[in-house]
Amino acid sequence: MAKEKKANTVTNQYGASMEKIVSLAKRRGFVYPSSEIYGGLSATWDYGPLGSELKNNIQNIWWKEMVRMHDNIVGLDAAIMMHPRTWEASGHVANFSDPLVDCKACKTRFREDKLDPETIKSKTCPECGGELTEPRQFNLMFSTHLGPVQDSGSIVYLRPETAQGIFVNFKNVVDTTRVQIPFGIAQVGKAFRNEITTKNFIFRTCEFEQMEMQFFVKPGTEDEWFDYWKKERMAYYLNKLGILEENLRFHQHGPNELAFYAKDAFDVEYQYPFGWEEQEGIHSRTDYDLSQHSKFCGKEVNYLDQSDNSRYIPYVIETSAGLTRSVLVCLMDAYHEETIGEDKDGKPDVRTVLHLHPNVAPVTVGIMPLVKKDGLAELALDVEKELRESFNTFYDQGGAIGRRYRRMDEIGTPFCVTVDYDTKEDKSVTLRFRDSMEQVRVPLAELENRIRREIKNYKRVK
Ligand code: GAP
Repeated sequence: MAKEKKANTVTNQYGASMEKIVSLAKRRGFVYPSSEIYGGLSATWDYGPLGSELKNNIQNIWWKEMVRMHDNIVGLDAAIMMHPRTWEASGHVANFSDPLVDCKACKTRFREDKLDPETIKSKTCPECGGELTEPRQFNLMFSTHLGPVQDSGSIVYLRPETAQGIFVNFKNVVDTTRVQIPFGIAQVGKAFRNEITTKNFIFRTCEFEQMEMQFFVKPGTEDEWFDYWKKERMAYYLNKLGILEENLRFHQHGPNELAFYAKDAFDVEYQYPFGWEEQEGIHSRTDYDLSQHSKFCGKEVNYLDQSDNSRYIPYVIETSAGLTRSVLVCLMDAYHEETIGEDKDGKPDVRTVLHLHPNVAPVTVGIMPLVKKDGLAELALDVEKELRESFNTFYDQGGAIGRRYRRMDEIGTPFCVTVDYDTKEDKSVTLRFRDSMEQVRVPLAELENRIRREIKNYKRVK
């Protein structure tokens, strides 16, 4: 669509645009169009060698922050296909739909709720001026059949959110672990939505990954836990993913956005070059989900609070983040075109650098010999072998050293180690920092600890 194309070229003050991110992602092996050799499949993407590292790193940090760093949060990995009654209970069968309108002339499809009020009133296509159809409710769940007979009794859905896998396992977790309220259950996994308008690269896709945590609390304490999780989640984006503060904000849901059962909801929004968009939802969901499952399965789903022997259905604070969307946020936020002097023709020398936090960078340390002869390559390979136990490393001996540094900058490698002629004598190497481009000499014996320290104390400058 023409409008979308235009939005993709809008750049922020650091030179990032969606078009440039898509191009870099493809060029450097972060994200490829899916099934590309067959011409691709609309709005589906594959994560390449660097993209899968980046995505795994984000997932691991989230898991560490949620599960490992909290005594009272445990993990779960539920199946994608669940009993179909789950989705009746959750309300997805009846309500998880978008209003769809089509242009009778150019056949473009829109979500009516995303059109401006004037367009809705005039029923004219914003693309070509043609007439729009009446809205139809379109359920976003993908369905398939379990087993060989394809009748209505065999229908199952691909989960549209991971959250319900947590709710239906609430009793299992309480009965088989020693968790006590307040406690949380976290999981990461695929979710599927037959989105009407997929757009903006990996921002909105039909197959995506979520990182969700349901925190179960005593009714009456939900507001304090809601505030707690709001703070925690914002701190995570700032400190653990290293996202710029200027690009993050909260958006509180108004009465028209709030689900009928929800008490409160805030989105963590990210500022893309084309505007603010949701990255994560923090939801105060009351006891709605557990009550619904209790009703639909005909069994009591509640909790015996041993602190005062009371029995109740817990309230839930949910934190629901997009993992694949986080990959986009990290790339977008890190991208910077910097002028760093002049080239040999006197033209501005611009380097493209990803200021990725070392926590998420697909390669942590690039290792290179100054030249590959005179035994330097062997020495550098030895250093690489040592470091790869602790860090994700990449060995590169091809081309001028400056060009090799630039290649590492462009994929966001925070540290480069160069082995040169002096290394043989002084048993030291050059450690180069991506952000400042500063270089220091570090004894080989101290290298690993030095890099660890640098990661721990990393502060982004942009
Ligand atoms: N359990 C609550 C829930 O699923 P949501 O706001 O619909 O809430 C949570 O989704 C997060 O999942 C979003 O903030 C977004 O990051 C991600 N997400 C949702 N739909 C997506 C899509 N079609 N493509 C990529 N990410 C999506």
